[in-house]
Amino acid sequence: MRTQVGIVGAGPAGLLLSHLLHRSGIDSVVLERRSREYVEHRVRAGVLEQGSVDLLRRTGLGDRLDREGLRHEGIELRFGGTAHRVAMTELTGRAITVYGQQEVVKDLIAARTAAGGELRFEVEDVRLAGLDRASPVIRYRHQGREEELHCDFVAGCDGSHGVSRSAVPPGVLTEYERQYPFAWLGVLAAAAPAAEELIYAHHDRGFALHSMRSPEISRLYLQVEPDTDIADWPDDRIWSELRTRLETVPGWSLNTGPILEKSVTGMRSLVVEPMRWERLFLAGDAVHIVPPTGAKGMNLALADVALLGDAFAAWYQEGRDDLLTGYSDTALRRVWRAQHFSWWMTSLLHRLETQDPYEAKLQISTLHYLTSSRAYATSLAENYVGLAEV
Ligand code: FAD
Ligand code: DHB
Repeated sequence: MRTQVGIVGAGPAGLLLSHLLHRSGIDSVVLERRSREYVEHRVRAGVLEQGSVDLLRRTGLGDRLDREGLRHEGIELRFGGTAHRVAMTELTGRAITVYGQQEVVKDLIAARTAAGGELRFEVEDVRLAGLDRASPVIRYRHQGREEELHCDFVAGCDGSHGVSRSAVPPGVLTEYERQYPFAWLGVLAAAAPAAEELIYAHHDRGFALHSMRSPEISRLYLQVEPDTDIADWPDDRIWSELRTRLETVPGWSLNTGPILEKSVTGMRSLVVEPMRWERLFLAGDAVHIVPPTGAKGMNLALADVALLGDAFAAWYQEGRDDLLTGYSDTALRRVWRAQHFSWWMTSLLHRLETQDPYEAKLQISTLHYLTSSRAYATSLAENYVGLAEV
């Protein structure tokens, strides 16, 4: 089998890239380890920056997003028994949209399928070869058969546990990394959100986040120990801890309901540079990871492949390689801005096990400053809604 761009991974990055390439008349094949059912139901991110929404709309993916996505013009910061709104739209002219990552994935799969796109689910043992030659090959197993996909370029969009990055010879890539001494326990609950906007809560017992997916479904997160076993968190314990950390403002109470899904996610910051080696281009979580606090991961994945889509179009349509050559440097500008913002939001809002009382006082001082200074609040807001130019 032969294609122009072989794409590993059917997450937001791989699927959007395939869609963008198709719109530029470029052929691609997407190889995904999981089933279609699995990727369409994997509960993860929920916040789209203004730029991500604009990109999805511009490329014909805005219908359901416009109908079901929830536009938010502010967020709430809750600490020390008080609630403060950051008026993002008033401060920046931009907004975010709450729309589940799996909905973005479903829309992309539907669009690719309707256009006759080649998506191969449940492939095994993906191996990349010949990346430094004119025609790389991706070998894999599908339905018990050994297959080969010959291509001009490979896009490694296979997430944080992918294999693409390991095909680069030792010594080429540099990793910048930070681990955090905590994790997030996330739940999806059949309960009407108790607030119209997201609530980021700083609490002595740890961070909590109140988010949502629809007027009937809440999405909630708790800071927990990094090695947390989900079995130690029966539903009653989760609700009780959420109440303690979120019901700190007079007259506000959480709505509860059946928990539909729960999982624990570790927190990590990672950037691998450069994002390209020869004919392999890396995008999304395959090459950088942020802790979820700033809601940046999916947005970065989409922004990377928007650049790649343009770069491949310039190559195939005009024979230009400047955008492919510049891809890594251009993408890394945005990546590092999001790295800083995610690290900063994480450090500001979480209880740090090693935290001395001095650091805790600095967190509270920063929160007071953020909620009283228009200049500082604007900085948070413009990073949160996504900077147009970085
Ligand atoms: P992925 O979505 O991980 O997709 C990679 C795909 O590659 C997967 O389908 C995987 O199965 C496949 N794959 C892996 N290995 C192989 C292989 N060897 N062969 C073939 N296929 C393979 N981001 C935000 O922007 N906003 C948020 O609000 C937000 N909240 C989050 C909350 C949580 C709890 C978590 C866990 C993440 C959150 N994120 C958020 C981050 C976001 O989910 C990721 O950044 C996003 O999924 C990255 O997309 P991707 O396409 O790069 O990778
Ligand atoms: C959600 C996830 C985040 O990481 C975040 O910062 C805000 C919202 C969510 O899943 O809704």
